Amino acid sequence: MFDRINHLLRAMGEIGGAKQVVATADFLQEYVVKHFAAEEEQMALHEYPGMAQHKEHHEYFRGQVEDLRQRLAEHGPNEKLLIEAQELLVNYLRDHILQVDMLLGRFLKEKM
Ligand SMILES: [Fe+2]
Repeated sequence: MFDRINHLLRAMGEIGGAKQVVATADFLQEYVVKHFAAEEEQMALHEYPGMAQHKEHHEYFRGQVEDLRQRLAEHGPNEKLLIEAQELLVNYLRDHILQVDMLLGRFLKEKM
């Protein structure tokens, strides 16, 4: 769990300059595709009781990332989108990884 948080923060720190917003959006897209699928597979496999609610969170963030990428494609990289991309990443860390994923992590740890 903490590896993932570190990975997110490292990615933010490594990205710099005008391309930051594009790289952040690409990173978020790759993250939601890979990690959400892996988590959802584990939840189904272990019949996680909070699966429906957790998947709703994933859907919400998938939608947010998709929306960001669409606006980026339409308008190109700009300061406003950069701030929104960073806010999305920070909100995801605070609202999802540190809360929803923590609960799943505890559940899976008890199962193993
Ligand atoms: Fe999750």
